[in-house]
Amino acid sequence: MVGEINSTIYNCGIIQLPRINNRAGNITSLENNITIPFEVKRVYYLYDIPGGEDRGGHAHKELEQFIIAVSGAFDVLIDDGTNKKLVHLDRPFIGLHIVPGIWRELLNFSSGAVSLVLASEKYDERDYYRDHDEFKLIKNAE
Ligand code: TYD
Repeated sequence: MVGEINSTIYNCGIIQLPRINNRAGNITSLENNITIPFEVKRVYYLYDIPGGEDRGGHAHKELEQFIIAVSGAFDVLIDDGTNKKLVHLDRPFIGLHIVPGIWRELLNFSSGAVSLVLASEKYDERDYYRDHDEFKLIKNAE
């Protein structure tokens, strides 16, 4: 796995999840190290996001994440200190894998959107970069 300093947005990726479908709807199941490219230690979800609000605005040192729009839609801006990319998530069978050392912002939530986040570590505030200038300095230091 690429480290927090050397990682780029090109190490992040969209993953298509399996879908079991019949006339009564769909099921998507997620398994550690198979569908999800790491061992999940924590799951959380964002919901009731007021119109116009953004989330994220940080990077992680070691944490990997897998983000799914299980309902509705939103955009994820990923940023490695040099390159940026806007990823639109609007399907419950599509996930975005974010490696360590990537700044992310979640924007443009549709009404009723739910963002499911699978994380490779337990919550630890010491794993966060919350200052974008500091993040850029660390990513671009040679
Ligand atoms: P944060 O990760 O900044 O949220 P977002 O990126 O969605 O804007 O977390 C917001 C607050 O919630 C912060 O005070 C830390 C707390 N929090 C936990 O206690 N446990 C968790 O698993 C998460 C994700 C956040």
